[in-house]
Order: sequence, then C-alpha cells, then structure tokens
Amino acid sequence: MMRIPHALGLVGLSAALVTLLASPALRAQPAAASDASALYKKHCLMCHMANGNNTAVKNASFTDGVWVHGNSVEQVATVIKNGVKGTAMLPFAKKLTDPEIQALARYVRGFDKTLKPADGQ
Ligand code: HEC
Repeated sequence: MMRIPHALGLVGLSAALVTLLASPALRAQPAAASDASALYKKHCLMCHMANGNNTAVKNASFTDGVWVHGNSVEQVATVIKNGVKGTAMLPFAKKLTDPEIQALARYVRGFDKTLKPADGQ
C-alpha cells in the first residue's frame, strides 16, 4: 500500500522530465545559416516565394526595400515570433525556437540587397 504513492510520484516525475526535455528552451541550440535556408523552405517559402519577392501579397516582399514592421534583426524577429494580426502572417513562437527565429530574421533580411548585413550574417 505504501508503494502506490511512491510509484505515482515516479510517474509524475518522469512526466515532468519528458515535458522539460521537450521544451524549446532545452532544444534551443544556435541555428546555423544553413538551417535557416531549410527552415525558410519548410515554413515560409509557400507565402514569401523562393527569392523572398512575393509582390502579389501586400507587405510580403523582402526585396522591395519596404519593411513595414521595421528592418532591424530584432524587429524582423518580432514579426516572425508574433505574426501580424489580421493577416496570413501567423506567429511562429510555438513552432520555432528563439535561435531559429533569429536565424530566419537574418536570413530574410538577406533577400534585401539594400540592407547592410547584420553581424554574423
Ligand atoms: C501563410 C502565409 C505566410 C507564411 C507561411 C509566412 N508569412 Fe510572413 N508574411 C505573410 C504576409 C501576408 C505578410 C504581410 C503582413 C502585413 O501585412 O503586415 C508577412 C509579413 C512578414 C514579415 C514582415 C515584412 C515587413 O515588410 O515588415 C516578415 C519578416 C515575415 N513575414 C517573415 C516570415 C517568415 C520568416 C516566415 C516563415 C517562418 C513567414 N513569414 C511565413 C504571410 C506569410
């Protein structure tokens, strides 16, 4: 009888561990630039096109020199993270880790040849 609470405790602990191990914070590793290209193809290309130049959709082009939400790495990362309410640009905060979002921010800025590359790009 005394073993039951103990066993339950272990189950609870392993469940907590599994949750912890699956959390983005622990999976987070610096994403390399090559990962950004693969991430872009998987999550972004269908709307923003291979060359980031989808001028058919309002505000979706990265090559027209217009960044309606700001062109710094931080501002671009914030859009990717939170999305743009009321548009097809959905938040990626739950799908991607912070380092992946940072890498993508640098990557999409790279489509705009008028921008100075950010450090480490
Ligand atoms: C379902 C379509 C769709 C997908 C998928 C999508 N976007 Fe977007 N994105 C949009 C649209 C539409 C806008 C324009 C939003 C607006 O009007 O402000 C946008 C805007 C942006 C902007 C702001 C551009 C500016 O001018 O400031 C960035 C940055 C961006 N997207 C990055 C990404 C990245 C990175 C991904 C992949 C992780 C992605 N998007 C995936 C549709 C999409």
